[in-house]
Amino acid sequence: MNDTIPQLRAYDEATLEAAFATLIEEVRSETSLLQDPESFRLHWLGRKQGRLKLISEAWLKSAPPEARKPLGIQFNRLKQEIEAALEAPAAADSAAHTEQGIDITLPGTQRAPGIAHPLLKTMEQIVQVFHNLGYSTNLGPQVESDFYNFEALNFPPNHPARDTQDTLVIANQQNRPSRDRLLMRTHTSPVQIRTMVAQAPPIRIVIPGKVHRNDAADATHSPIFHQVEGLCVDTNITFSDLKGTLDHAMKALFGSDVKTRFFPSFFPFTEPSADVQISCIFCGGKGCRKCKHSGWIELLGCGMVDPAVFAAVTKERRKLGLDDDAYDPNRITGFAFGMGVERIAMIQHGISDIGHFFSGDMRFLEQFA
Ligand code: DAH
Repeated sequence: MNDTIPQLRAYDEATLEAAFATLIEEVRSETSLLQDPESFRLHWLGRKQGRLKLISEAWLKSAPPEARKPLGIQFNRLKQEIEAALEAPAAADSAAHTEQGIDITLPGTQRAPGIAHPLLKTMEQIVQVFHNLGYSTNLGPQVESDFYNFEALNFPPNHPARDTQDTLVIANQQNRPSRDRLLMRTHTSPVQIRTMVAQAPPIRIVIPGKVHRNDAADATHSPIFHQVEGLCVDTNITFSDLKGTLDHAMKALFGSDVKTRFFPSFFPFTEPSADVQISCIFCGGKGCRKCKHSGWIELLGCGMVDPAVFAAVTKERRKLGLDDDAYDPNRITGFAFGMGVERIAMIQHGISDIGHFFSGDMRFLEQFA
C-alpha cells in the first residue's frame, strides 16, 4: 500500500480533477486485492493516521480560501468511493480480480436446493395419473364470478346448496347483477363451465388449483385449500366410464390393492352424484381408528354432468355466436369429479393436521426432500 502523501502543485479545477482521479484509481486497484477489509478501512479512513485524513490535512493547509469548497467536494467523493469499496469489495473492480485475491481453498457457498412443496407434489401426481389417460390441464381464475362458481353449475341464487360452500365474497358488488358479482372460487368446478363454453366436445381435462372458503381452520379445515377437478365429455360416456376411470386413478395413487365403492350423494351439477370411498389404506379394510372402524375412507365427489349444466353452457355459447348443438344432451354425456389435494396428501403421508402444510416449519417440509 502507498503511504506517501502526494504533492498538490496547483488548485485549479483540472489539477484537482487529475489528483483525485489518481487517488480513486489507487482505491480501486487496492480493493481488488482486498482480503482484510479492516486494514483497508484503517489505511484509508483511520481517524489519526488514515490516508484520507493525512492527505486532506496536507492539501487543505496550503489551499487558497476559494479552493476549499471544491477540495471538500472532491474529498467527499473519494470517501464515498472508499466506503462503496468496503461495502462491495468484489464488485468495486471485478475486472482487476487476480488469482492472488481469491483463496481457492475456502469452502464454496452452500446453497440448499429447494424442493417442491408436498402439496404440489401430490397435486402433480394426481394430474399425472390423468395425463397418462389422455387428459390435458386447464386452469381458471381464483377470483370468480357468481355465474361460473354457482349459477351455471345449477346452484340458483339463494339455493340452499350454496350453504355447503361458505363463500368469501368481494366487497362492494351490490350494484352489479348477481351473475357478475365476484367471489373467491369455492371449488374448481367453475373451470368446467369455462372450458365447455370455450370448446366443443370431446373434452378430457383436469383442473388443479387453489380454492377458498370461509371455514375456520382446524385439524382438517383450512380457508384456502386445493382441489383437482376432472371433466370428460363426449358421445356415449356412461357411469361405467366414470367408475372405471376413478377406480384406476385410486389404484394408481394408493396402490393396486385399493378397492373403491360409490355411494349415492348430491351435487347440483351432477345427476346422479356419488361419493367415492377407498378401502382403508391403513388397515386394509379391517377397520381402525383412521377409518373410524368402517374399513373405508371417503375421498371425492363425482357424477354424471347434469343436463342443466349443458343447457347453461349452450345458452352461453349462443350468446357468443356459437349457435351450435355441441352440447345437445340427447347426444352428449359426460362425467365430472373433484377431489381435495390436502386430504389425499394427508392420507398418503399419514399427516393428522392440515396446518402442517401451511406453517412453513422446515422440520416438517424437510421430510419431503
Ligand atoms: N365441487 C365439489 C366440491 O367442492 C366437488 C365435486 C363433486 C366436483 C362432484 C365434481 C363433481 O366435479 O362431479 O365440493
